[in-house]
Amino acid sequence: MLIPPLRWNDEAGCVDLLDQTRLPVEEVWLRIETPEAMAEAIGRLRVRGAPAIGIAAAYGVVLALRGPGVVDPHAAVEAAATRLAATRPTAVNLFGALERMRRVAAAHPEAGPETLHAMLLAEARALEAEDRAAGRRIGEYGLSLLEDGMTVLTHCHAGGVATSGYGTALAPLLLAHERGRRLSAFVDETRPLLQGSRITAWELQRAGIPVTLITDGMAAHVMQQGRIDAVLVGADRIAANGDVANKIGTYGLAVLARAHGVPFYVFAPRSTLDPDTPDGAGIVIEERDPREVTHGFGRPTAPDGVRVYNPAFDVTPARLVTAIVTEEGVLRPPYGPALAALFAGHAV
Ligand code: MRU
Repeated sequence: MLIPPLRWNDEAGCVDLLDQTRLPVEEVWLRIETPEAMAEAIGRLRVRGAPAIGIAAAYGVVLALRGPGVVDPHAAVEAAATRLAATRPTAVNLFGALERMRRVAAAHPEAGPETLHAMLLAEARALEAEDRAAGRRIGEYGLSLLEDGMTVLTHCHAGGVATSGYGTALAPLLLAHERGRRLSAFVDETRPLLQGSRITAWELQRAGIPVTLITDGMAAHVMQQGRIDAVLVGADRIAANGDVANKIGTYGLAVLARAHGVPFYVFAPRSTLDPDTPDGAGIVIEERDPREVTHGFGRPTAPDGVRVYNPAFDVTPARLVTAIVTEEGVLRPPYGPALAALFAGHAV
């Protein structure tokens, strides 16, 4: 069952986007008509998750050429791409997607607004379709690592609405369920924005997959109790040496998994791999508004004026990762050579 985060609306020539900040209480679809509105949606996490951010940004560039009155289409595309690139720094999918859109525009310097619009729309659609196919294959490879009856732990949300609809870390669970295999999940609520409880628990429950919600601080306890057979997480960027940036709290889970002898699997499409960043130290970690911590969902939960540190992601060193699952196969350590081989086009 696919749960896409957005749909291109052919009739209106714009994007219909599921506002993920309203989940799970309401399913509100927003009409996004300009690159600026798309940038706002990405910045405010109305659309979130590394692959979904890339897809949304690609369609955001298309919106730069919406309607009549575009005088310089190439300048409009560049301005949109620059604005969208400034929304969130960590997920490399955003920059990869924008680079693809820029390349299409650069390859057709003489194209007028309508022709360029058609070409950019085709590219955004291709990017989305590739991600959907990747999710399915990631699910297949992921499932090969899991046995019937296992219970996994996941963090944040790496399912349908974080991608083009199939997910990465949640893809094996959905696939297992489709095939009548029994897997169940513990889900970290994922402070401060609760993507785990608001979105992962919602998606798994909707799909009919047994899910148990815990707060982030309970993960050590459930692992100590022997309730977790594997940890499955997504990624926002994987450096050339296999270091993994993902939602804040992921590194702690990797340390816990190692301490308890539990395998720690990272799921990501090729678009999340960053061969240009040698290791995790080079990954920019987004810092977000302190109010996300002090005013969880509107209500003050901390004393006025307290100093806050609010990094949205952390880096898990490659040595703590049991395997990286991509659409091209399951990579095992040492990741440097494994990733280099993947980029050189060798089978993994
Ligand atoms: O801040 P978010 O909600 O965009 O963070 C998302 C994550 O960290 C996901 O785990 C990651 O993007 C993988 S999504 C398939």
